[in-house]
Amino acid sequence: MRDRSGMALRVEADRLYLLDQSRLPQEQRWLAIDDVDALVEAIHALRTRGAPMIAIAAALLVAVRAERGDDRDALAEAVARLRRARPTAVNLMHAMDALADALAAPDWRAAVIASAEALHDGDRALCDALAAHGAALIGAGERILTHCNTGGLATAGIGTALGVIRRAHEQDKGVSVWVDETRPLLQGARLTAWELGELGVPYLLITDSMAAGLMAAGRVDRVIVGADRIAANGDVANKIGTYGLAVLARHHGVPFAVAAPHTTLDPACATGTAIPIEQRAAAEVRGVTGAAGELCWAPADAPVDNPAFDVTPAALVDHWVLDTGVFDAAAVAAGALTHGGAGLP
Ligand code: MRU
Repeated sequence: MRDRSGMALRVEADRLYLLDQSRLPQEQRWLAIDDVDALVEAIHALRTRGAPMIAIAAALLVAVRAERGDDRDALAEAVARLRRARPTAVNLMHAMDALADALAAPDWRAAVIASAEALHDGDRALCDALAAHGAALIGAGERILTHCNTGGLATAGIGTALGVIRRAHEQDKGVSVWVDETRPLLQGARLTAWELGELGVPYLLITDSMAAGLMAAGRVDRVIVGADRIAANGDVANKIGTYGLAVLARHHGVPFAVAAPHTTLDPACATGTAIPIEQRAAAEVRGVTGAAGELCWAPADAPVDNPAFDVTPAALVDHWVLDTGVFDAAAVAAGALTHGGAGLP
C-alpha cells in the first residue's frame, strides 16, 4: 500500500495510525492500530469518529490486514465485525459492503487493497467537491453556526460542513463561526474550536443552550451541519442537538443546510424513522472524561438517556449540500437523494 497522511489518519509502511481524538485538544497522541479489536475499541471510545472517518479507518485496517497476509475468511470476519462497530453512520456500512464485494473477486487481496485506497482517496475528492458547492451558498460576512465536528478530523479530506466554512474563509468571504460546544462529548468545544483555530477562521464558542438567544437576536445568518445518515426522503440523522437547531432556525428564518458526501445517503431508509440511533454510556451524561481525567457531577447512579444522534425531518432542511451539487426541498421530493443527486440540477 502507498503511504497516506491526513489530519487524523495515516498509513505508513503498511501500518495504520489514528490521532486519538478523545485526548484533543490537550494532547496530540497517535495510536498504532494493528487489529480489529483495537479499532473497534477506538471507534467505541470516539478516539476516531465522524461518519466518513470511521468508514475509511475500517477500510484501511482491512487493507493493512490483507497486505500482511490474513486469509480471506479472517478478512471477511474483520469486515463483518467492523460493520457493526457503530450503528448510525451509514458510510461505515457502505464501505464494508464495498470490501465484502472486493473479497468476492478472483484477485481478492489486490481488490481489497485497491477498494480501501479508493475509499480514502475518494473521500478527499468528495469533500473538495461538496465544499465548492456549499461555499457558493455563503454570502460575505456571514455568521455561521455549526454543531459537532465535521472537519479534517472527521473525514480524510477538509471535511463536510466545516469544509464548506473553510472554503468560504479561503475565498475571503469574511465568515465567522458560532461553535456549539456539543454536549455530552464536546466535539464542538474540543475539536471544531481547535480546527478553526488552526485554520485561522474567527469563531466564538458557545454552549448548546445559547443558540436560541443568538438567533432571536439576529446574530446567526446560517446553520450548517454534517450528517451520519440521510434517508431517501431527506430526513437527516446527525449529532444529538441538530434537530433542536433546525427547529430554532426555521422559527427564526435562518437557512439550515446539511453538508455530506453521497456516501452518507441511505436510499434503503425511506424515512428517518428507519435510521438506528446509537445509545451511549450513562457516564457521558453524568460527567466528563478527557485528557485531564474523569469528573462526575451527577449522582453516581443517576438514570440517564444518552442517544448519540437525533433525526431532523426533511421539512426543516433548506439545502442538502452534496458532492454532486446543492439540492432544495423540491429536488429532494423529486428523488434527488435516492441516486446520489446525479443527473439532477
Ligand atoms: O459521535 P460523532 O462524533 O462521530 O458524531 C459525528 C457527527 O455527528 C458528524 O456531524 C457526522 O458524523 C458528520 S462528520 C463529517
